[in-house]
Amino acid sequence: MRKKGILITGAAGEIGDALIRSLSQQDQNQVITLDVRPLPAETSTMVTHITGDIMDQALLARLVSEYEIATIYHLAALLSTRAEFTPEAAHRVNVEGTLGLLKLASEQSQWRGEPVLFIFPSSVAAYGMPDLETKARYPMVREWEWNYPRTMYGCNKLYCELLGTYYSENFRQLAAERPVMLDFRSVRFPGLISAYTVPSGGTSDYGPEMLHAAAQNSPYACFVSEEACIPFMAMPDAVTALTLLAAAPAKALSRRVYNVTSFSLTAAEFREQVLNYFPGADITFNPDKKRQGIVDSWPAGLNDHDARRDWGWQPAYGLERAFEEYLVPNIRNRYMSG
Ligand SMILES: NC(=O)c1ccc[n+]([C@@H]2O[C@H](COP(=O)([O-])OP(=O)(O)OC[C@H]3O[C@@H](n4cnc5c(N)ncnc54)[C@H](O)[C@@H]3O)[C@@H](O)[C@H]2O)c1
Repeated sequence: MRKKGILITGAAGEIGDALIRSLSQQDQNQVITLDVRPLPAETSTMVTHITGDIMDQALLARLVSEYEIATIYHLAALLSTRAEFTPEAAHRVNVEGTLGLLKLASEQSQWRGEPVLFIFPSSVAAYGMPDLETKARYPMVREWEWNYPRTMYGCNKLYCELLGTYYSENFRQLAAERPVMLDFRSVRFPGLISAYTVPSGGTSDYGPEMLHAAAQNSPYACFVSEEACIPFMAMPDAVTALTLLAAAPAKALSRRVYNVTSFSLTAAEFREQVLNYFPGADITFNPDKKRQGIVDSWPAGLNDHDARRDWGWQPAYGLERAFEEYLVPNIRNRYMSG
């Protein structure tokens, strides 16, 4: 018999690190992780890690021969800034990689006679506002509005949301018998801020970079202007959103893709927050017009009403609490002990 397990792809990344810590405490199922990078020593003892590529079909086949995968958290991706430098590579990993995992989940759902749960982190990058006037006029977008992404990463996320929905609802719609389909669920995250890891390759990275630089007494030049405004969320809330959505009864869900958010603020307001705790921080603004253009195309806020109504989503960390209780103490601790 195969061992039952939960698969996390991209587990060596920022969200993966936090998700492993949370799942290894809560869940009795074995957690199997897959990433092209090895896991840090601390989390590697909590899971069974495979260092490998999600594009490696032989590896995926071996994986399902050994494990009965009931849930997949598919986190592996090339993030927004990196994806702009290598758009075709991003398409391969973000779209073809996701398609391969959807195919695996689809086949496994049929083998098991029960849907495999497929949890997919999408992004605010799935939106694209045409200009700043429109962004100001629609400060809290709903899931179906302004789905005109300007980046390869945003296009990849939006299309994968559709692919996941297709495999959950319409796969083999012309066949004589409908197969058991997978259960795809997705959250569109705002920019995430972790106290324990520093992001790389994303376009919302200026927020966390400001904070981590201040805690290390390093000067920081922000790559967007003072007025740039997007939504953010503390990492523990991101993990809560993923696990809460995974645990929700299917009949409670009115959609497959949900906005989730916590607080929105401008880069200047972010700087002020950082200065409250690190008054000597040297934070200046040196906007990169091109990256600024990407941030400007993202909405200033996400309307997450449906997630709140359907599966009880509520962020534990609003702006003040995120800084006061999660970010600042843990970041101080990290750099003091490191
Ligand atoms: N961090 C954010 O602010 C944010 C916001 C919205 C959505 N997301 C999404 O959440 C997911 C995780 O993001 P993160 O912040 O942890 O990113 P991250 O870059 O820290 O982690 C991504 C991980 O995927 C791995 N990876 C990349 N290509 C791979 C491949 N071909 N095979 C196996 N592993 C591969 C990388 O090695 C990395 O460890 C991504 O899908 C991202 O798009 C993140």
